Amino acid sequence: MTSSELAREAWPRRIMRRLSRMMGPKGVFLEGFIEHPVMVGSIIPSSRFTIAKMLAPVKWDECKVFVEYGPGVGTFCRPVLNRLRRDGQLIVIDTNPLYIDYLRATITDSRFSAVLGSAADVEEIVRAHGRDHADYVLSGLPFSTLPDGVGPAIAAATHRVLRPGGAFLVYQFSAKARDFMARHFNRIDSSFELFNILPCKLFWGWKDTAADA
Ligand SMILES: C[S@@+](CC[C@H](N)C(=O)[O-])C[C@H]1O[C@@H](n2cnc3c(N)ncnc32)[C@H](O)[C@@H]1O
Repeated sequence: MTSSELAREAWPRRIMRRLSRMMGPKGVFLEGFIEHPVMVGSIIPSSRFTIAKMLAPVKWDECKVFVEYGPGVGTFCRPVLNRLRRDGQLIVIDTNPLYIDYLRATITDSRFSAVLGSAADVEEIVRAHGRDHADYVLSGLPFSTLPDGVGPAIAAATHRVLRPGGAFLVYQFSAKARDFMARHFNRIDSSFELFNILPCKLFWGWKDTAADA
């Protein structure tokens, strides 16, 4: 931001921004929530227990393209990059420019791309990164507060973009996402994580292979 842009910014917002930056990633996340509470849907990032449980079924040796919707300040990005193979790719998509700017400034791994956009456009975004399919798609989207029609469109686009045998990994405070997933994924595993603010539901929707059909 230039100094003239800073001067134009209202002082309460400037103070909030300074305070949130002093708090680190959690502060940036909170700032995003205060600006767009419905779009963000949570005041605090996911816990390490949620991250470990959600990622446990991923077969990392078979994963070349991992997509994440709604990365926020990157709570899952670092654990995913730690597990991802050296020739893998992590593409994250978020509608909030504050988070995308923060991720681009703080994660410099060459396997990582942060895209400002909607998860509904995942197919176009994956193609723009030179790939036809994703192996896994992870979602932290607040499905219950997305505008009408957006949740079902995202579930349909996700099913199309996944390779057979790939999976849609979803964590959410409500079970709304499961309703959208069930229209496309025949097998959905589920679990629950108590040690998260708020406790959340976890779903893994597996895309059928030819052998399953
Ligand atoms: C609950 S936060 C997820 C936070 C983070 N993944 C974590 O584990 O702490 C939801 C995120 O979804 C993003 N979001 C909301 N609608 C979206 C959409 N249509 N496409 C992509 N991201 C979206 C918000 O900007 C926010 O970063």
